[in-house]
Amino acid sequence: MKLRKMWLNINGVNRIFICDPEKDTLASVLRRIGLTGVKVGCGKGACGACSVILDGKVVRSCARKIRAIPEYSKVLTIEGIGTPQHLHPLQVAWMNCGAVQCGFCVPGFIVSAYALLQENPAPSREDVRDWFQKHRNVCRCTGYVQITDAVMAAARVLRGECTIDDITFKNPADGQYYGKPVVRPTALAKVCGLADYGDDQELKMPAESLHAAVVQPRVAHHARILNIDTDEAERMPGVVRIVQARDLIAAGGTNLYAEGHFHERTTVLVPSRKVLCDDKIYRYGDVVAMVVADTRDHARAAAAMVKVEVERLPEYLNFLDAVMPDAMRIHEDTPNIFSQQPVFKGAGLEDPARVAELIDGSAHSVSGSFHSTREPHLSIEGCTVQSYWDEDGQLTMQCKSQGVYSGLGRLGNALCAKDKLRIIMNPTGASFGWSTNAGDIALVGACTVVTGMPVALSLSYEEHQHYSGKRCPGYSNARLACDGEGRITAAEFDLGLDHGSYSWGGDDIIIKPARFAFFPYKVPDAVGLVRVANTNHAFGTAYRSYGSPQAYTFSEALMDMLAQETGIDPFELRWRNIARPGDLNLNSHSFMQYPFEAMMEAMRPHYQRAVREAREKDTPQVRRGVGLAWGAFNVTEGGTDNATVDLELNPDGSVTKFDTWQELGQGGDIGSVMVTLEALKPLGLTPEQVRLVQSDTKLCKDSGMSAGSRSHYMNGHATRIAGEKMLAAMRKADGGFRSYAEMVAEKLPLKYTGRYETAVTPGLSRLDPNTGIGNPSPAYTYALNLAEVEVAADTGKTTVIRFVCVDEVGKIGNIQAVNGQAFGGISHSIGFALSENYDDVHKHTNIDNSGVPYIKDIPDEIILVHMEQYNQHGPWGSSGASEAFQASGHVAVLNAIANATGVRIFEMPATREKVKAGLDLLAAGGKVLPPRKYFLGSDLYEELESIKANPVPFGGNEFYQPLGGAGERPF
Ligand code: FES
Ligand code: FES
Repeated sequence: MKLRKMWLNINGVNRIFICDPEKDTLASVLRRIGLTGVKVGCGKGACGACSVILDGKVVRSCARKIRAIPEYSKVLTIEGIGTPQHLHPLQVAWMNCGAVQCGFCVPGFIVSAYALLQENPAPSREDVRDWFQKHRNVCRCTGYVQITDAVMAAARVLRGECTIDDITFKNPADGQYYGKPVVRPTALAKVCGLADYGDDQELKMPAESLHAAVVQPRVAHHARILNIDTDEAERMPGVVRIVQARDLIAAGGTNLYAEGHFHERTTVLVPSRKVLCDDKIYRYGDVVAMVVADTRDHARAAAAMVKVEVERLPEYLNFLDAVMPDAMRIHEDTPNIFSQQPVFKGAGLEDPARVAELIDGSAHSVSGSFHSTREPHLSIEGCTVQSYWDEDGQLTMQCKSQGVYSGLGRLGNALCAKDKLRIIMNPTGASFGWSTNAGDIALVGACTVVTGMPVALSLSYEEHQHYSGKRCPGYSNARLACDGEGRITAAEFDLGLDHGSYSWGGDDIIIKPARFAFFPYKVPDAVGLVRVANTNHAFGTAYRSYGSPQAYTFSEALMDMLAQETGIDPFELRWRNIARPGDLNLNSHSFMQYPFEAMMEAMRPHYQRAVREAREKDTPQVRRGVGLAWGAFNVTEGGTDNATVDLELNPDGSVTKFDTWQELGQGGDIGSVMVTLEALKPLGLTPEQVRLVQSDTKLCKDSGMSAGSRSHYMNGHATRIAGEKMLAAMRKADGGFRSYAEMVAEKLPLKYTGRYETAVTPGLSRLDPNTGIGNPSPAYTYALNLAEVEVAADTGKTTVIRFVCVDEVGKIGNIQAVNGQAFGGISHSIGFALSENYDDVHKHTNIDNSGVPYIKDIPDEIILVHMEQYNQHGPWGSSGASEAFQASGHVAVLNAIANATGVRIFEMPATREKVKAGLDLLAAGGKVLPPRKYFLGSDLYEELESIKANPVPFGGNEFYQPLGGAGERPF
């Protein structure tokens, strides 16, 4: 290795350092000298997280080789822009405008914005958007609107048009915090580049710590492993150990993830996933060994030298191939379709075939086959984890996790005795669902178990992309019918979900489409079936609005197709069919709340304006259209959900809140503060007096996952209960409250636990696996979406120019956090509709080539209308406030394209090529038809008859039966 001494003027100071001119980038040097505000996400110049200013120009430092930079060049990083004591207006604006969610993109954005304002002190919003587009700054969390707000606010301060004070949230004098835009407690560190995410933790570990790299052969999607040859790799510099499955087993782990299944129709008999594959590879991203070495580079170099010999097996890369009659079993214990959930309603309950007759006999009916993609989450930070034995002998893993306790459950005894495990959440660069799976945690934990040493693992973005789970693609055949007045008479659907290589979670997701198809309409008679199958692609995992987008893909498209068929306006058709009090959902149960008329009334003027403008502005060159889509999602994980938190009084009168409200950018930090302030309102605490200890299984009780739109609802209730106990203990006879000293003097406890269970809500039950009847949720969130698009007739390119969302999330706890979830969910929906995919493993390797939306792909005009009806079951009238925002926005976009052009996209994403092909077909006098009806494993009605003839015992609200003794604490 030939090194070079070098000087750069960094943040106004000449700094000397030693570098490797062949390997080092500007980003790697800056991070090594401690400027870890320079974040590395994509690592290839696509995301802008690593932006710095080099000699006055914004550059992406991960893509700048240090050898190409002249000595004494001037570099400005986030650390040189402002500090916690001396914040720049941009940093203040970012914190106060809701532009900080996970924060991983924030330093790069602020640096970029700083350069913009140097060049143009009075930019328009479009100037700001052009700038971030040009500099490739990506934010996956916020949907960009609040970021543009922040730049505009900071620019006003810098021009002297207002003061910092004017753009800073102030604590209300009346102590009414609930609903207000209180700033997140983690925001300050994030805007200053001082939040230490996983890779930053790695840099700051003790010097003797080791580094791991994955042996991810990427030679096949399905193969038998014949030999893993490590000889050459073991001789590589710095290698300490190559860890294979047999080493982990010899060290006491089972190498098997704990796996639980609860659905009575699930056929899986044994856990399907291993930490390290030793006999078969089931997908492209599987890992067969870990190389542990003294440096990350040495580990990666050696991992590349491990030779894996395989015998290729038939590869089934989608649901349709995997369910063909001649397909081999991917896992020997189970047919490829490993679970099913039927839905029977009305006449369908007695006789499924009657529903087909009703559809055939209705005045109007429409049908189609639809495909939704394997949507990748595309958080800017990928997998980065650390593990070590802590001072109490616990195998401790620091990671990104949406459920630290569920992570423990998922690991079971895979690594060591399960009671030896501890999981701590790092500051996290978003997840949107993929970190529910604990896979990367297991890989690094295995290295520590085998070597006894602290180990860090950081996957490249491509490795992460292949290793992590994705949203299940859906394939559906569906029909919908109505009478002459446009009232729905009957519906049928058959949906196949591609759950990829592993089955865990597959019999959970099938419940969702069975609940959200045709929600929130009154459908008197219906049948449906959701089937889930293994394939050899990425395994299915959680993603915001888990399982409902696949249902809305067909049901909201069919609503528009029915509108066209009947000649009734799409808004009016929906108006005629939304459920009113007394109407039952597809699961023969109450909708719990009926805000639908009010929401449509709120949307009506926006719709009328959009239709009018589309008519006025449509041209042959630029076609303009409007699309609607109803959406909704459940709140909580059902009738057995529970959450536990602690509140502790501190000597200075402040309160410490202990919980596992995992903060991934969605607002786990500020949500926890808001509910604590509300629970302890009589004490008159300020946000600064609420300290958080979160997401460490040693220190915090289990408040459950950050998933299922459950956190605010469940944690809020648990905090309310803990607060009531604390207030009761502190209250004096005169109505005042004891001080800390008085509590101690009277020997009163200082710490109070609150536990809440959804079981207190009467009538909750799982869906019956034989009928689809049930009511799993105490509350819902709802979103009615309106997309306005322009389609370029010459290219087929679609641009969403405006988006309106009317939502009902109950009383809002923190307005900026809810807005952030809405903007973010809508931006993912637009990406889902138009570009995002993980299908071609050779192409979809990073965020840009997987279709992540940049700022100009998302409209600046996103109008949010929060209805805020009081939720009778939720804490302080709140419900959940996340996943409905991503349930169906993609169909609003697809419906708008169809409205603009006549081209209906049945198989997502709606790329410009597909839209252009449809336009060309129409121009040639053809017709855009749905794909040929999919074969989903069997005839729908024969399968439904078979299910009716073979009922399974229904376990009511019992969840998660462990498999084969391996899953002793199943999640
Ligand atoms: S552009 Fe450098 S990390 Fe993405
Ligand atoms: S806040 Fe921008 S990526 Fe998370």
